[in-house]
Amino acid sequence: MSKKITIAIDGYSSTGKSTVAKQIAKQLGYIYVDTGAMYRAVTLYAMRKVMVTDDRLSEEALLRHLPFINVNFKFDEDLGYGVIHLNNENVEKEIRLMDVSNNVSKVAAIPKVREMLVAQQQKMGENGEVVMDGRDIGTVVFPNAELKLFMTASAEKRAERRYTELKEKGNEVTYEEVLKNVEDRDHLDSTRETSPLVKADDAIEIDNTNLTREDQFDKIMALISEKTAVK
Ligand code: DC
Repeated sequence: MSKKITIAIDGYSSTGKSTVAKQIAKQLGYIYVDTGAMYRAVTLYAMRKVMVTDDRLSEEALLRHLPFINVNFKFDEDLGYGVIHLNNENVEKEIRLMDVSNNVSKVAAIPKVREMLVAQQQKMGENGEVVMDGRDIGTVVFPNAELKLFMTASAEKRAERRYTELKEKGNEVTYEEVLKNVEDRDHLDSTRETSPLVKADDAIEIDNTNLTREDQFDKIMALISEKTAVK
């Protein structure tokens, strides 16, 4: 017997939050929710309607469209987790492209967008047994989560990881471009007015600049064991 808990994983972009969150969810048989994918899907919608471009955001138009934006996860048996859908279209690949990364912080800063997605996230995790990753999970979405992790790593290390990942998928990007995106997003995500990226007081910080994936996984599983032990 072990206690069922909610696990909130926040932190900077490209710190490997989703990789570790998926691993943990699989190990525990919990639901995994990638909240960044939800902000990316709304951004993709806005980009397709030309409501957001590199230098402009038509917030009013986007707000008018919010009732028509349906973002959800459809469980994929093979992958073992839910895949992001935008109005019933699988957009998993498209939301990872650089142009979406370049625009997402602007869209994620809009309070009404956050309100809509946070409400949906709270509903998805209302029964516990969930691993959710994002920027405001431990502070806003689940302030009472039993385990909160805050992931960090140097900007250079994160850019290196993201660059390798994008290259492997065949994307034409430069390391400098990726590093700039990582630094710009850190800045925008940490300084926005609504729910900025901050470490919750009771979150445990994990700096994985020099940690292997295996070491990080073991470390987190040990923390989970402490929290789920029935005393
Ligand atoms: O985790 P990610 O890099 O896919 O997230 C994409 C963007 O969405 C990120 O730059 C900040 C934003 N985001 C957010 O504001 N709140 C969350 N809970 C998750 C992501």
